[in-house]
Amino acid sequence: MSHDDFPTDDPAVVTCGLPYANGDLHIGHLRTYVGGDVYSRALERLGQETAFVSGSDMHGTPVAVNAEQEGVSPEAFALDWHERYAATFPKFNVEFDNYGHTHDETNTAVTQELVRDLEDAGHVYEKEIMVAYDPVDDQYLPDRYVEGTCPYCGAHARGDECDEGCQRHLEPGEVEDPESTITGNPAEYRERTHKFFAVSEFSEYLSGFLDRLEGTSNARNQPREWIEQGLQDWCITRDMDWGIDYPGDNPQDLVLYVWVDAPIEYISSTKQYSERVGADAFDWEAAWREGASDAHPEGGEIVHVIGRDIIQHHTIFWPAMLEATGHAEPRAVMASGFVTLGGKGFSTSRDRAVWADEYLDEGFHPDPLRYYLATNGGFQQDVDFSWEKFRDRVNTELVGTVGNFLYRSLLFAHRNYDDAPIAEETSDEVQDRIEEAIADVEAAVNDYSVRALGDAVTDLARFGNEYIQRNEPWKLVDEEPDEAARVIYDCVAIAKAIAVLFEPIAPEKCERLWAQLGEDGSVHDVTVAAAREGPAGDLAEPTELFEQIEDERVEALNEKLESRVAEAEAADGDESEGDEDASTDEDATDGDATDGDATDTTDDTDMTDIEPLSDDRVSFDDFQELDIRVGRIDEAEGIEGADDLLKLRVDLGAKTRTIVAGLKQLHDVDDLPGTKVVVLANMEKAELFGVESNGMVLAAGDEADLLTTYEDAGPGTKVK
Ligand code: 2FM
Ligand code: ZN
Repeated sequence: MSHDDFPTDDPAVVTCGLPYANGDLHIGHLRTYVGGDVYSRALERLGQETAFVSGSDMHGTPVAVNAEQEGVSPEAFALDWHERYAATFPKFNVEFDNYGHTHDETNTAVTQELVRDLEDAGHVYEKEIMVAYDPVDDQYLPDRYVEGTCPYCGAHARGDECDEGCQRHLEPGEVEDPESTITGNPAEYRERTHKFFAVSEFSEYLSGFLDRLEGTSNARNQPREWIEQGLQDWCITRDMDWGIDYPGDNPQDLVLYVWVDAPIEYISSTKQYSERVGADAFDWEAAWREGASDAHPEGGEIVHVIGRDIIQHHTIFWPAMLEATGHAEPRAVMASGFVTLGGKGFSTSRDRAVWADEYLDEGFHPDPLRYYLATNGGFQQDVDFSWEKFRDRVNTELVGTVGNFLYRSLLFAHRNYDDAPIAEETSDEVQDRIEEAIADVEAAVNDYSVRALGDAVTDLARFGNEYIQRNEPWKLVDEEPDEAARVIYDCVAIAKAIAVLFEPIAPEKCERLWAQLGEDGSVHDVTVAAAREGPAGDLAEPTELFEQIEDERVEALNEKLESRVAEAEAADGDESEGDEDASTDEDATDGDATDGDATDTTDDTDMTDIEPLSDDRVSFDDFQELDIRVGRIDEAEGIEGADDLLKLRVDLGAKTRTIVAGLKQLHDVDDLPGTKVVVLANMEKAELFGVESNGMVLAAGDEADLLTTYEDAGPGTKVK
């Protein structure tokens, strides 16, 4: 791995976090998989040799507890879900090169070998620890078999994860006031010998790793703090039957902790891919093992695409395991924000979800959802889904901008030029604009921005609409046929570039567009270079690529969802909203752009997420009561237990104030000191996570784009 810009000469592996094989997928789950698929397709588009892999996470208590509740064996339960996932992903055009699972022979062997290597290298030791135990049921209670109180933040927590509070990984024995989740019995702690991986030995390495790590900034910020607080060693065994047996000396019949064998599936899945296509086509060892290939001594370009709830596993435990065993260092971690539904968390038990199968059963095409999930905000930002917002973006951007340009251009060309575009050179203006779009795509890949990949194409289509409108070929066709032909040839060239550049986001639609353009083969197999080549095929009769979503449809879908939720709540006998999925917590909606009224827009730019301008006026006197000042951030640091917040020290001229701001997931903390900001200085004081906040830093939009000043007004200057 080189850290050179993509494409590089090393093989890349793009991985997606493994879903636990334990329940239906909803569209919130799909975000990471769509993001990974888009990114890996885009890498291939640049000519990067890429394997895209994942698999089902079969082990651990998330599977065992659910299987037990259903009264089936964990193996049968997990395999059933695995098969369903393997069938569902391709329906959303998420096409893994290999989709395995953690319980198969390959992963069992690769995991046991890697753990043996870890042990041989002296990084594993035994320790007596206290483990939760149900004395009535006479069984140990690992991880999700036990619940209690988080020792760090006091929130209700599962055995291995503070999922409702500070999101920390919890070690066995840490949860306070333990109870069995199966029987409700109070648990006691008993002494047991377990195996530990000495992660703390890797603190220095991990600090350096985080400095090198690319991807989204949230994947670097929080781990740095954990390292500063001091890393604990990591218990890698569990008292369970279901899992991969600890290799070697194992008198207590321990299995490996699920978080050991899960990421190793990234390697195993790549290995299975190589075994299927041959090492000449993709060499898994060259990608994963340092020194396995002379051509790629540091291994390949490993890019992990995950949800932000599992950053710690991918930036601390996993890179330490890789480093300890001579594997390649991950180049990037892209950690996505959560998806909410109409501003609230998804709730599996209350059926408050748009299920993956349900979306398709409603007759929707997968590509518009891919577009929505990939481009509705930055990757690390939370995304809200509502049928209204979905309709607005589909109708405005896919139908109104991209589809409209393609249809009007291709129809005009097909009708007037007897099926074939006119073989002339593309004009300099259009060729330059296509080059700009290609450069935008290259930059988006190197910035790990799936949203920018989409923007590159919608911007190109916007240009196309403006170009055809400006040149009005329909007025030229009789009197200046050559000029009309030149214009329409340009438009078909833009359409071809759209097919090539939009394929990562809308693969099936772009395949259809490719066929309409009369191009040979599959658009999936070409690189960005094809966008530069003028169109060559015989045009087929075009059809509209994207379908408009009607308002009545949205109303019906909302009614369906609401009545389902009401039914589930009634069956539950509980109106509370207490059990949103951990991966879509309600707090995640803070600061979201609200349901903007798209009908207010006056052109085809993306206005769908803009809140309508307020009609409630304030007086000048009211405005003057706001003490808005220029400030300069002197210091920025995380706050223990707070996922999103930073404690800032802001110089306001006369004074330096402490201000708490929700910037942690959205800005590189180290870059903030020295930044000039605008502060509401007489904001009411508030206490957040034990820190008194004395002012408010102003920022725009979901990405918390910090307000600053145009020239050199210094700290303390009043804004008026
Ligand atoms: O949190 C989860 O859903 C885990 N199944 C993710 C595993 S990702 C990787 F490490 F394998
Ligand atoms: Zn906690």
